[in-house]
Amino acid sequence: MKDLSAKTAFVTGAASGIGLGIATALAQAGVKVMLCDIEEAALKTALESLRRTNADVDSVKADVSLKSELQAAADATVARYGKVHILVNNAGVGGGGGYGQWSDASWNWTLGVNLMSVIWGFEIFGPLIEKHAEGGQIVSTASIAGLISGGGSITYNVTKYGVVALSEGLRVSLAPRGIGVSVLCPGFIRTHIMDSGRNLPSRFAGKVESPPGDAPTVEIIKMVRDRVAHGIDPLYVGELVREGIENDWPYIFTDTEFEPAIEARFSAIKQGFDRIRTRKPRR
Ligand SMILES: NC(=O)c1ccc[n+]([C@@H]2O[C@H](COP(=O)([O-])OP(=O)(O)OC[C@H]3O[C@@H](n4cnc5c(N)ncnc54)[C@H](O)[C@@H]3O)[C@@H](O)[C@H]2O)c1
Repeated sequence: MKDLSAKTAFVTGAASGIGLGIATALAQAGVKVMLCDIEEAALKTALESLRRTNADVDSVKADVSLKSELQAAADATVARYGKVHILVNNAGVGGGGGYGQWSDASWNWTLGVNLMSVIWGFEIFGPLIEKHAEGGQIVSTASIAGLISGGGSITYNVTKYGVVALSEGLRVSLAPRGIGVSVLCPGFIRTHIMDSGRNLPSRFAGKVESPPGDAPTVEIIKMVRDRVAHGIDPLYVGELVREGIENDWPYIFTDTEFEPAIEARFSAIKQGFDRIRTRKPRR
């Protein structure tokens, strides 16, 4: 999508962090943006601050882990702006827990916000973009944790691997329909992700508090909290996403810190193939 001016975008998780960075960068490029989020007060503040820059923006509250609320938000966007060209599936929550920590509720919460909402986003907005035949782009926020699954919160990594798989597969299916698909895989970004519990939907209240975990897990969480607190500026990430949309990048990275770790994973996979290639049958 080379020309972004006068196009319309729908961004989930737009009230703070990376979503707000993306909404800001798009609005500054002349895109009309519908900001969607579960957190009403933050959404109102974000909207007011963007409107002070003369941006054509509006907002809609939705819990994207409920399909009916995402559908209602899409309907509100069409009613407000007519057409949607860009969907940014960005809302997400950290946590969920590792082995010995997760519960059915923590899986349902993280899978619902991080993965099911992305599946429904494609399902609901894909046909809306196809209908106007002006082309479009769908960007989904995964993570570096969608490409390497270390220790820590395995539930989170599973949801993010799902977002990468969905994006890689649908890029092929949607290209002939005039829709580009990108996956954003950020490293450490300075946001409120480590306080995701603030947005726990009431149906999960009291059900997802996980035990603190073993010593290595506690250490990993402490390290991640510190790295996020000193992470990359989310507005810079927004600018990268805008560039990714303009150039239909399949993968949008924010930095190269984890490139060696991803290469190590590829190399372990390659060794698996090599083992089979050279394996001799037993006699
Ligand atoms: N911050 C990082 O270091 C980092 C790294 C990799 C990936 N990510 C991903 O980036 C995305 C954005 O997170 P962030 O880091 O900006 O954190 P954030 O907490 O600042 O922003 C997340 C936004 O999503 C919203 N949200 C949460 N649950 C929701 C729900 N059920 N319905 C609608 N909105 C909901 C929150 O209110 C918030 O505005 C997430 O998908 C996250 O997994 C973040």
